Amino acid sequence: MSNDSFVLRAEDISKSYKSEQSDERLQVVKNVSVSINKGSITSIVGSSGSGKSTLLHILGGLDRPDNGKVFWDDQDIASMNSDALADFRNKNIGFVFQFHHLLPEFTALENVSMPALIAGKSMQQASKRATELLNRFGVAERKNHRPTQLSGGEQQRVSMARALMNQPSIILADEPTGNLDDVNTDIILDMLFELRDEYGVSVLLITHEQKIAQRSDTILEIKSGELNPL
Ligand SMILES: Nc1ncnc2c1ncn2[C@@H]1O[C@H](COP(=O)(O)OP(=O)(O)OP(=O)(O)O)[C@@H](O)[C@H]1O
Ligand SMILES: [Mg+2]
Repeated sequence: MSNDSFVLRAEDISKSYKSEQSDERLQVVKNVSVSINKGSITSIVGSSGSGKSTLLHILGGLDRPDNGKVFWDDQDIASMNSDALADFRNKNIGFVFQFHHLLPEFTALENVSMPALIAGKSMQQASKRATELLNRFGVAERKNHRPTQLSGGEQQRVSMARALMNQPSIILADEPTGNLDDVNTDIILDMLFELRDEYGVSVLLITHEQKIAQRSDTILEIKSGELNPL
């Protein structure tokens, strides 16, 4: 089954973890099927522990489901070995996490350049694009700062720049504004919508913020591992 209007499509995925307390496994994601349209913004909401991050990690190929399939542009990621998956992820998916996950020993410029260097670009090419992106996100003057020398909002802007480095077709964001004040939340959000409008990048984000969810094209709610439209 092929449909080229989807950037990402999951069919009947499940994930469980071994429980420490009993022999029963803890079912964290339950038979989830979801399709993400190209150029759409989709929010996933749900209470703490409902399975949001687990689902996002599976969709992004950071984790594997016990059952079910995940397709990126009709490529089944289960059929890829770890190296091929890492390579595909690097080129096609931009991740933004709640806590920036920037590498502490590297500057903002180096952190943003990293995905391009991993993809085989020269230092010169990588630095050029990284500088453009840092500029785009209003943090170019901070390019030689290490993560601890950046504010929370700046760290997230640098993370967004890094996520966009290899021109991904989708951004997966796990509470990208969870740690920010209202002003920075609005800045990051406006940027996500601008990116979609300018480049057609699809966005799938986990959020607790009602106002973010309301601006998205689709809102999905996960409850005890089951995903449904809200
Ligand atoms: N590696 C693991 N081993 C065992 N249990 C896990 C593991 N990872 C997650 N879980 C459990 O799975 C459930 C869902 O976790 P998940 O991180 O997906 O929740 P979440 O919806 O992202 O929550 P939050 O909003 O707090 O980030 C939780 O009950 C958690 O304890
Ligand atoms: Mg989470």
